[in-house]
Amino acid sequence: MPEADVSIKEKSYFTDIPQQNELFFLKGSNNYDWGMKNRLARIFNPESGKTVMLAFDHGYFQGPTTGLERVDISILPLAPSADALMLTRGILRSIIPASTAKGVVMRASGGPSILKELSNENIAVDMEDALRMNVSAVAVQVFIGGEFETQSVHNLTRLVDAGMKVGMPVLGVTAVGKDMARDAKYMGLASRICAELGAAFVKTYYVPEDFDTVTAACPVPIVIAGGKKLPELEALTMAANAIQAGALGVDMGRNIVQSDAPVAMLQAVRKVVHEGMKPRIAFEYFESLKNEKK
Ligand code: R5P
Repeated sequence: MPEADVSIKEKSYFTDIPQQNELFFLKGSNNYDWGMKNRLARIFNPESGKTVMLAFDHGYFQGPTTGLERVDISILPLAPSADALMLTRGILRSIIPASTAKGVVMRASGGPSILKELSNENIAVDMEDALRMNVSAVAVQVFIGGEFETQSVHNLTRLVDAGMKVGMPVLGVTAVGKDMARDAKYMGLASRICAELGAAFVKTYYVPEDFDTVTAACPVPIVIAGGKKLPELEALTMAANAIQAGALGVDMGRNIVQSDAPVAMLQAVRKVVHEGMKPRIAFEYFESLKNEKK
């Protein structure tokens, strides 16, 4: 072959460079199809491998709870600072602008209110409607040890089956009943069950002792719920400790929406989760943003 042809061939076809087969960045997620991975990459930032989800789905059993009375006024301004929004389809359709580019994790189980037995949930969203709304994942509450444990696990597996057909990840949310011990043994049990049964990622509560055993034994990413409102420094410390122990993000609600300065708090949580900022420094950052606003 003439020399000129060889160089054109190399320039245009790069025949000497083999095509790369990239591994997907997220723990345990390499064997999914493209659509499922793409959805997960709308929730977890591919650069840091982590996520800050803003949870405001509480109304599905609590109604207009503190901080969430007016989602349009109090929550919408926070959306730009979150990686993903965790909400119900009612709020998505009625309040969230369809122009949003954020990942959406949609609550897909429900039934009982705070006045009844909470574990008695059923699937509350059809997969077709989740697809119609172009969400990035659906979330289902799993009540390990609860009265309706099997029913809630069945809700998870049915959603996983439906999700697998269309590339929709399922978030298994471990609900901790009043009688359950809030320790690593329980969180590890509940998280592992969700992952074994097909959840693409799991939300659980952080516990100070041995949380690294919970994340290590769960083959898919774990994000932590925020839980009851804490002073900001404590909430930032909890987020930092969880990340340090192997969590790949937070799904925080009350610790953000009930803060005096929700946007500043969300920005500080981002620093901890995505940049590994120390909690004390992140708290100073929170204070400075809060004071700037005054
Ligand atoms: C419970 O209502 C939902 O699963 C919430 O999304 C979850 O509890 C996270 O919210 P918070 O940080 O307020 O606990």
